[in-house]
Amino acid sequence: MNKGLIALGLVLVLAACQQEVPAPKRNSRVAEPSGLAATMREMTADMEELKAKAQAGTLSLADVESLRAAHEPIKTAEPTKPEEIKESFPSFAEAYLSNLDALTDALRQQGNREAQIEAFNTVIATCESCHQQHCPGPLDRIRGIKVQE
Ligand code: HEC
Repeated sequence: MNKGLIALGLVLVLAACQQEVPAPKRNSRVAEPSGLAATMREMTADMEELKAKAQAGTLSLADVESLRAAHEPIKTAEPTKPEEIKESFPSFAEAYLSNLDALTDALRQQGNREAQIEAFNTVIATCESCHQQHCPGPLDRIRGIKVQE
């Protein structure tokens, strides 16, 4: 038999084996969250994690400094239903980020426990305001992040 044909046969067998490598199952997975929903989940996890420290007045600058970059996509991430995004959305997103900056400033100035709680609750109040107009479903969970004084 022609050596070239044998070689070709080998290449074909190898190629077939390559295809046996399990490919990611695209259709069997639950739909991916939108970019905005994924950002919101991260924001929720971050703020829930910080609540106890805010309550105790022991938040540190390092706790919140990393949040700015992580939460910044709120301005640009793609929502699940763009048609439900209102004109007020960008100003709520800006307000959210500037209240996060105000919390950072309060910690930089080593504000006391009251100042920490006030700045932390102002951030959560901004979550709440935007959610009253967009996506009211998580409102109870959001209110639960507020520190009761
Ligand atoms: C500027 C408006 C705005 C602000 C501020 C905002 N949200 Fe949202 N949030 C939305 C919108 C719109 C959605 C729907 C996102 C989607 O489905 O793509 C959403 C979705 C969510 C969800 C559901 C995510 C999922 O799993 O589908 C949670 C939980 C949430 N937000 C919590 C928060 C928390 C906590 C904050 C503050 C730390 C916050 N949000 C701030 C507008 C906002």
